[in-house]
Amino acid sequence: GKSGYDHFMLKEIHEQPRALRQCLRGRVDELGGTVSVEELGDLDFDRIHLVAAGTSYHAAVYGAGLLSAEGISAQAHYAHEYASSPPPIEDATVVGVSQSGETADTLAATREARRRGAGTLALTNTVGSTMARECDDAFYIRSGPEIGVAATKTFAGQQTALNLLTQVVADGTPDRDLVSALRDLPGDVQTILDESNAEAVAEAYLDAEAYFFIGRGLNFPVALEGALKMKEISYEHAEGFAAGELKHGPLALVTANTPVFATVVGDGELARKTVGNVKEVEARDAPVVAVTDGRSDADRYADHTLEIPETDPRTAAILANVQLQLASYHTAAKLGRSIDKPRNLAKSVTVE
Ligand code: F6R
Repeated sequence: GKSGYDHFMLKEIHEQPRALRQCLRGRVDELGGTVSVEELGDLDFDRIHLVAAGTSYHAAVYGAGLLSAEGISAQAHYAHEYASSPPPIEDATVVGVSQSGETADTLAATREARRRGAGTLALTNTVGSTMARECDDAFYIRSGPEIGVAATKTFAGQQTALNLLTQVVADGTPDRDLVSALRDLPGDVQTILDESNAEAVAEAYLDAEAYFFIGRGLNFPVALEGALKMKEISYEHAEGFAAGELKHGPLALVTANTPVFATVVGDGELARKTVGNVKEVEARDAPVVAVTDGRSDADRYADHTLEIPETDPRTAAILANVQLQLASYHTAAKLGRSIDKPRNLAKSVTVE
C-alpha cells in the first residue's frame, strides 16, 4: 500500500534515502576509499554508448557527463534512434539504462548492439528482466519496486549507480570528495525531504502558462527531467533547456507567467554563467525559482529558493532533482491530477 502517503509517487520520493543506501551497500568502501561493483565482469569500457528512453535517457545524459569528465569516451543516445540509425559501434560497450528492463525501444537498441558484436550491460532495477537476461552483464540499482508511473527513486538510483560505474571504469582511486559525498547522499536527500518548501513554491505558480527548467553540465539532464516530470503528472506545458541555449530561441517564450526553475550549484564558472541566464529571465519579468546550495548569488535574483545541502557537484545533481520532483508532485496534487496513473501513459512501454 501507500503507507499513509496520498500517492505512490510521494511514497517513492520519500523512499529515496533507503533506496540509495541499498544501491551503495557493499559497493563503496569508505575506509579504503574504493568503489567496486561485482556484477561488472570483464566487459571492456574504453568507449561507452548509453541507450535509454524517457527519464532513463536523462540519467544516461548525466552518466555520459560523469564518464566524459573522467576522460572516458561516452555518449548518450535515445534508444529508439539508436536502434534504427546506430552510430559506428565497433569496440563500444553498450549500456542499456532501463528501470524496468522491458522497454521495447531500449531492448531494440541493446539487441542491435549485440547483433553488431558489441558487449552489452543492462543497468536496471529489475532482476530477471528481459534486458538483464539478454545483456552480457546486469548491474542492479536496487531501488525496490516502483509503482507510480512517474519514475522517481529509480532515476536517483540510476544517477547513483552511474557514479559507481564511472569510478569502476575510470579504474583509479575515486577522489575523497566523491566517496564522502556518496556516503552523505542518503542523509542529504532526507534533509531535503524534511525541509523542502516545494509545496509553497508549487502553490505560488498554479496559474502559470508554462514551466521552464534550466541547468548546465550535469544539471542540464536535471532540467530535462524536471520538465518531463512536470508535464507527465501536471499536464501543464513544461520544457527543459541547457541554460546556454536560452538566448538562442527559447527566451522568446519567457514572460511574467512562465516560472523558470534554475539549478545553480557551487560558485564556479558554471554557476556564474547560469546566474547570468537567471538575470536574463528576471529582466523579462519571469519568476525565478533557484535550486541551489547557496554558494553563488543566484538567490539574490530569485523569487523562491529550493535549497540543497552543499556537496560534490556530481551528487548535487541528484539532490536538485529531488526538489524538482517535489515541486512537480505538489503542482499536480494541487491541480487534482491523476498522479500515479497519468492519462495516456503506461509504467512500462513494451511496444516500439
Ligand atoms: C518517466 C518515465 C518514462 C520511463 C521510460 C523508460 O517518468 O517513467 O519516461 O523512464 O519509459 O522506462 P524504463 O526506464 O523502464 O526503460
